[in-house]
Amino acid sequence: MPPTLSQQIQTFYDSSSHLWEQVWGEHMHHGYYGPNGQQPKARQQAQVDLIEELLAWGNVQRPQAILDVGCGIGGSSLYLAQKYQATVTGITLSPVQARRAQVRAQTAGLSAQTTFQVVDALNMPFPDGSFDLVWSLESGEHMPDKTQFLQECCRVLKPEGRLLIATWCHRPTPPALTWSEQRLLNDIYRIYYLPYVISLPDYAEIAQTLPLTELKTADWSVAVAPFWDEVIRSALNPQVIWGILNAGLQTLQGSLALSFMSRGYRQGVIRYGLLRGTKLTSEPAE
Ligand SMILES: C[S@@+](CC[C@H](N)C(=O)[O-])C[C@H]1O[C@@H](n2cnc3c(N)ncnc32)[C@H](O)[C@@H]1O
Repeated sequence: MPPTLSQQIQTFYDSSSHLWEQVWGEHMHHGYYGPNGQQPKARQQAQVDLIEELLAWGNVQRPQAILDVGCGIGGSSLYLAQKYQATVTGITLSPVQARRAQVRAQTAGLSAQTTFQVVDALNMPFPDGSFDLVWSLESGEHMPDKTQFLQECCRVLKPEGRLLIATWCHRPTPPALTWSEQRLLNDIYRIYYLPYVISLPDYAEIAQTLPLTELKTADWSVAVAPFWDEVIRSALNPQVIWGILNAGLQTLQGSLALSFMSRGYRQGVIRYGLLRGTKLTSEPAE
C-alpha cells in the first residue's frame, strides 16, 4: 500500500529535522524582516522576531495553557512557555520531533511545563475548551482538510481563548490561478508534502462559520519573503550539502526546491497568511 499523506509528512520530518536543527536552528518557520521586508538581520533573529510580531499582531495576553499545533522540535513551544511561564502542549506527526522537543525542554529546564505528543491535529484527544491560546505556525499548509483543522483548533479553545495561525497560502482568487501558477504550486506541494493550500480569504470564510469573534487576517508575504534567499545562501556550504545528501532523498528534494518558494513569492502566487480569532463565550443561536 502506498504511504498515506500523514506517513509521508512523518517520514519527511523524521528524516530532515536533525539536519534542519544543525544548520538552521530550532525554528522551522519564516523570519520577519520588517513590514517592507527591508530590515537586514540574522536569520535566527528574524525567526524570533516573527514570533514576537505575531503575538503583538494577535494581541495575545498572558496565556496560561497553550497548544502549539505542528510544533516541530518545540521552537515556539519553549519560547512561549518561557515568555509567559505557561504550560505548553506541542503536537506533531513526527515521533523524532516530539522526542527531540522533549530533550530540548529538559535541557532548558522547561520539562515540567511542557509536553510533546504525536497527535493528528485533525483529530485531537484534548477535551473541548482546554487551551487559552491555540498557536499554529506553518502547519496549516499540511492539513488535508482545512475546515476540520480550524474546527478542531476552535473546539479545544477555552471561551475567550485566542486562535493564532500563520500559514502558507496561494493568492486570492479570482482571477483563477494560471496554469504556470498551478504548476509551481504543484511542485511545492510535492516537495514539501502539502495536499494543497488555499487563499487567506478562503481561511477567513471558514473561520466565519465557527464560534469565533474579533476575526482578523493579514498578508505578511512582503515581510517574510527574504527568508528563502537567506536559507539558500546558508545551504551553499560543503558541510550542509554533505548533511543533505546523508539525510536521504526526501531532504535532498526539499533542498533542491528551496528556490520554488522564493519564486512563488516573487511571482505573487505564494502568500504568507495570518488569521486571528477569539472564541465566543457561548455558541451563537441558530
Ligand atoms: C514546517 S513545520 C513547523 C514547525 C513549528 N511550528 C516551527 O515553526 O518551528 C510543520 C509541522 O507541522 C506538523 N504537522 C503537519 N501535519 C500535521 C498534522 N496533521 N497534525 C499535527 N502536526 C502536523 C509537522 O509534523 C511539523 O512539525
